[in-house]
Amino acid sequence: MEVSPSLLAADFTRLGKAVEIINRSEASMIHVDVMDGMFVPNISIGFPMIRAIADIAEKPLDVHMMVMDPIRFISQVRDAGATIMNVHQEACIHLNRVIHRISEAGMKPAVTLNPATPLVMLEEILPELEMVLLMGVNPGFGGQKFIEATIDKVARLRSMIDERGLKTKIEVDGGVNIDTAPRLAAAGADVLVAGSFVFKAEDPVAAISTLAHIS
Ligand code: DX5
Ligand code: ZN
Repeated sequence: MEVSPSLLAADFTRLGKAVEIINRSEASMIHVDVMDGMFVPNISIGFPMIRAIADIAEKPLDVHMMVMDPIRFISQVRDAGATIMNVHQEACIHLNRVIHRISEAGMKPAVTLNPATPLVMLEEILPELEMVLLMGVNPGFGGQKFIEATIDKVARLRSMIDERGLKTKIEVDGGVNIDTAPRLAAAGADVLVAGSFVFKAEDPVAAISTLAHIS
């Protein structure tokens, strides 16, 4: 299992330490949550902070944009050092254009779906995506309870991808823990984002390792 630890649950007064923890762990990438106070009722990390994280990160940055009209920020996200730019389907009127602009900017495009958004919204764009991120909670906050219907949604997306012979990865974000992770793996998830499970653990490196060894 690939693991993308979310810095949202880290101690923000020691963000550098959190990045170092991820650097020396079995994580595949670093998940950075950007919020605008409009698309979600919270505000988190901005571009100067992403740049500072990228400067010390030894793993690719997976930047989750919980913002309206993310097309406005493509060059800033790229210049801040992102490898993957994850945009919400619900926040883009012209999703096809957004995806192409992200690729043209040299990043890998990913699209996120809220729990209530059906998979069919991605049917046309799926072959062009590096990853689909399925939210396991309503976005905006860490530490929320996992929405069980996500398991079946992962399984259905797995079939959609496999039937079409695509390479698109399935990522899940929100409520990932020792109970939900094995079930998400069994349903066909490729990448798990984990905030609280990693950074509220006594040993975050071990928590990442636990998730990484789930198959
Ligand atoms: C929530 C964020 C998540 C968050 C997950 O809106 O997108 O990445 O950090 O937190 P946990 O793992 O605590 O549910
Ligand atoms: Zn996220």
